[in-house]
Amino acid sequence: MKKYLLMNGPNLNMLGIREPEIYGTTTLATIQDMVVAHGAERGVQVDCFQSNHEGALIDKLHEAHTAYDGVVYNPGAHTHYSYGIRDAIGSIDTPVVEVHISDVDAREPFRAISVVAPACVAQIKGHGIDGYCEALDGLLEGWSTRLGEGFDTRTSGQVIVGGTF
Ligand code: DQA
Repeated sequence: MKKYLLMNGPNLNMLGIREPEIYGTTTLATIQDMVVAHGAERGVQVDCFQSNHEGALIDKLHEAHTAYDGVVYNPGAHTHYSYGIRDAIGSIDTPVVEVHISDVDAREPFRAISVVAPACVAQIKGHGIDGYCEALDGLLEGWSTRLGEGFDTRTSGQVIVGGTF
């Protein structure tokens, strides 16, 4: 059975409490259950991991190189500045889809920049929690080409997939 990893970075354990006007009221546990069930309906296993610590997230990405067929990843604020996370994604062959619940392009300017996107195979933003299942579906469809350097991440509310832009 194929195995996928749902990863969430810093502060996403606070979903449900945190800024509900932006992120809604659904908890991370409910999102994890939703994605696990979505995978089960499609005959694949989904494991879940959340951490507020960059090193733990980097270790998990390294593990994904051999342990998983794809990663659905909301890196939270690491998206905007963590070259360590970006290099970890670039270090593994396992395809990673970047997901944001909110439309990061329609918020503060710093959120429109993703330093991790070039290493990812797709970026989904502003689709709410549905974006997580869309990311899993994309991996099951075979999304596998990295977005690469020079690709413009600043496109409001879009699904951007490697190789098709
Ligand atoms: C987020 C957007 C990020 O800018 C923010 O730091 C988050 C959540 C999102 O899901 O919309 O923690 O990744």
